[in-house]
Amino acid sequence: MQKLIIEGGAPLFGEICVQGSKNAVLPVLAACVLCKGRVFLKNCPCISDRYAAARILSALGAKTDSEQGVMSADCENITSSEIGMELMKSMRSSIIFMGALLGRMGECTICYPGGCNLGPRPIDMHIAAMRKMGAVISDDHGYISCKAPEGLKGCTHSLSFPSVGATENIMLAAVCAEGETVISNAAREPEICCLGDFLRACGARISGDGGGRIVIEGVSSLTPPPEPFEIIPDRIAAATYLSCTACAGGELLIRNCTPVHLEAVIPVFEQMGCSIRVFGSNIYIYRKGGLRAADTIRTMVYPGFPTDVQAIVMAPLCTAEGTTVFVENIFENRYRHADALCRMGADIRAEGKVAVVTGVRRLYGTVTEAPDLRGGAAIVCAALGAEGATEISGVGFIDRGYENIEGVLSAAGAKISRITEEKAANHRKEV
Ligand code: UD1
Repeated sequence: MQKLIIEGGAPLFGEICVQGSKNAVLPVLAACVLCKGRVFLKNCPCISDRYAAARILSALGAKTDSEQGVMSADCENITSSEIGMELMKSMRSSIIFMGALLGRMGECTICYPGGCNLGPRPIDMHIAAMRKMGAVISDDHGYISCKAPEGLKGCTHSLSFPSVGATENIMLAAVCAEGETVISNAAREPEICCLGDFLRACGARISGDGGGRIVIEGVSSLTPPPEPFEIIPDRIAAATYLSCTACAGGELLIRNCTPVHLEAVIPVFEQMGCSIRVFGSNIYIYRKGGLRAADTIRTMVYPGFPTDVQAIVMAPLCTAEGTTVFVENIFENRYRHADALCRMGADIRAEGKVAVVTGVRRLYGTVTEAPDLRGGAAIVCAALGAEGATEISGVGFIDRGYENIEGVLSAAGAKISRITEEKAANHRKEV
C-alpha cells in the first residue's frame, strides 16, 4: 500500500500545467462505444479512473492505446454488451456506459456502480430515463439487464434534479435513438458541453448543452471526428492547486485552465486575501501573510459553487482568521474530510448539510487517511501548510482524479513524496 508523506511549510513557486478533466474524459470514453472506428483524444489525464474506463472498453471488445499523450479508442468491433461487477464497481462513471451500450447494441447487462462514498448515490433517474425511451430493465440480484431490441425512442425528459450523470446517460442514449429527445432541467456543467462537442464532432445533432434544455435529433450512426478531440482542462484540479498555494503560501501560475469555469471559486480565494490575476488560460495566485474567513459557501449545481471543491477550499479556511460556514446541498455525506482536518488541529463542527469552520493559528502534521477523492486532496492541501509531517494513506482515492500529484507539487517546491507502507513505518521511527 502506498502513502504520501508531506513535510509542511514549504511555499509553492513556479508554474503548474493543469491536467485534462476527469469528469469530461469519462463520458467521452463511454461515447466512443457509439462510434464505429478509431477515435483519438488529446489532453487525457493519466489517472486511474481513465484506466478503469479503458478496461471497460477492452472488456466490450474495443481496442485502446495511448501514445505521446494521445489516447485512442477503436470501437469498430464491439463484441460484448456486458460489464462485470468488478469493472462496474471501479468507478461511478461506469453507469454512463448504459446509455452508450443501449444506443449501440440495443442491450446491456451491468450492475450498480462504485465511486466515492458521498452518501446515497442512487441511479433511479438513469433507469427511469432509459425505460422512458423504451428499454425493458430488470434487476436480478444486483445485475441490471437492459433490453431495447427495437432500438430506443426519443422522448421528453424533465429531470427532477439536474444530475450530471443522468444528463450524460440520456445524451448518449439519445444520439442514435429514433426521433427527437428533449432534456429539460438538464445539468449545465462544462463537462456536459465537452460531451456535446465530442458527439457533434462525431456527427450527432445536439443543441442547447450548457443551458437547461438540451435537444437531440437522433442520427443513424456516429463516425470518429476527423481530428483528435481535445478534452477540456480539469477545473477541480485547477481549484486544488489554488488551494495548495493558499495553504502553503508563495505564488503560482496555473496554466492550461479555463478560468470562466471557476467563476464561483476564484472569489472565495480573493475573500481569503489571496491576490489572483486571470489572463487567457492562466490563473496567477499569490498568498503572503494570513488568510481571512470567506462568506458562506453553498454548494450548487453549475454555475454555482461546485460540491467537488467544498472539501478543497475548507483546507485553507481552517487557518483563516474568523469563521466560515459551509452548506453542502448536493450530497448527503460530504464532510468525511472534516475528521482528518480536526486531527490536524482544525476546529470544524459538521452536522447534516452544515459545517462551521473556525480558523485556528496553525495545523499540525499527523497520520491520516484519504476518505474519498476530494477529501484526500483537501488533506494534501492542508498538509502543505501544516507544521511537521503528514502521512496520508488511501492514496488510491487521490490517484483516481489527480495525475502524478506528488510530481506536480514537488516541481513547484512542495516537500512531498510517495512511499510504500514499509518505508512509511521506517520514516515514523526516524522522526
Ligand atoms: C458528477 C461528478 C461528481 C460531482 C457530481 C455533482 C462525474 C464522473 N462525477 O457525479 O464529481 O460531484 O457530478 O457535481 O462527472 N441523484 C439521484 N438519482 C440519480 C442520480 C443522481 O438522486 O439517478 C442525486 C445524487 O445522489 C446527488 C445529486 O443527484 O445527490 C447529484 O448527483 P449527480 O449530478 O448525478 O452526480 P454524478 O453524476 O454522480
